[in-house]
Amino acid sequence: MLQIGPVKPVAGHCDLPFRLTARAAGSVGLAFTDLLCPHGILKQNIQTQWLTATDPLDHPLGMQLYGNDPDLMAAAALWSVDHGATTLDINMGCPVDKVTKTFAGSMMLCTPDHTVAVARRLVQTVGDRVPVTAKLRLGYHDCELTAPSLARRLIDVGIACITIHGRTAAMRFKGRACLDGIAAVVEAVHEAGGGKVPCIGNGDVQTPFDARRMLDHTGCDGIMIARGALSAPWIFRDTHEFLTTGRIDHSPTLRQRLDLIKLHYHHMLRLREPRRAVNRIRQLITGYGTHLGPCKPLKQAVLAMTETDAGRFDEIVETFAQQVGDEALARVPVTWEQRAVQLAEGIKSRAEGIGPRA
Ligand SMILES: Cc1cc2nc3c(=O)[nH]c(=O)nc-3n(C[C@H](O)[C@H](O)[C@H](O)COP(=O)(O)O)c2cc1C
Repeated sequence: MLQIGPVKPVAGHCDLPFRLTARAAGSVGLAFTDLLCPHGILKQNIQTQWLTATDPLDHPLGMQLYGNDPDLMAAAALWSVDHGATTLDINMGCPVDKVTKTFAGSMMLCTPDHTVAVARRLVQTVGDRVPVTAKLRLGYHDCELTAPSLARRLIDVGIACITIHGRTAAMRFKGRACLDGIAAVVEAVHEAGGGKVPCIGNGDVQTPFDARRMLDHTGCDGIMIARGALSAPWIFRDTHEFLTTGRIDHSPTLRQRLDLIKLHYHHMLRLREPRRAVNRIRQLITGYGTHLGPCKPLKQAVLAMTETDAGRFDEIVETFAQQVGDEALARVPVTWEQRAVQLAEGIKSRAEGIGPRA
């Protein structure tokens, strides 16, 4: 099992209700917050209070900071470690303008000397309490592979783990993650860290089979799954089963998937205003639906929910459960093999310019 300092991770990015749901589904070692602005942390604005919200079941938890001012980052790092972070991650991959225009996120790939200085400062500030890690993209511009040399320098100043997303910043989320690029970073990390610093591969792991492919092709020590988990928080559980046994015999049944979605909604309702819980489940239900088999009545009922229906979610789900019946509830509605076919068809039709995104 991959280990960063004392922490065993399988990482994702997400809010507290989602993290609690994925943890309940199983096999989540370390989950991450979304990226956090140090100003927001220090001012304790409402949005940051929500993004840093955690609870005793949400453990271990990585908090991820973005920014390039060493003093601010150090102060925010201390706050994070005092408030539940068991790992502190520096974002060096976000390509979003709001982040890069402050010379943070993926822009840090373009200023290696300063980036290394920020990393050194965080290691000096909190490195004796938690592992300090970094998440990079392959490079900033297209066809650029600057991550291996930056990763080496980060390890020299005490960064305890590198996560590498196999795209450049210029690619944003387009194209496919480049496994050869990830392999080059893995090699650099293993060499610079004398085999003691792990490297996590990230990008386009949508099924447990993709995870196997990533591990085999790149030699990485662990996998970070992001988008693939948003519609299937049980992907960590199923991937762990596949990687350890070569089989997926216990993927959740339709009944178990519906119960997890109900749990997710209950956490949202418990932790947020009803309006937000309803809006969020309406955003999520189409993605969830891709793992539920035929479920048009459920999707329609959830999409029609308004704030006044906030207390009716269980009733909506149970009405659907009764419609499909016990036999369907006891089955796995969409296997990972079937999901892989859906995704491949989505990629093909997008390449041909037809049909919706899978
Ligand atoms: C909506 C969205 C939000 C994201 N937020 C973060 C973030 O806060 N921090 C981060 O390191 N990466 C973030 N990412 C990038 C993912 O962590 C991941 O690197 C990327 O999506 C590729 O992995 P995937 O193919 O498994 O999704 C985000 C991606 C998306 C699509």
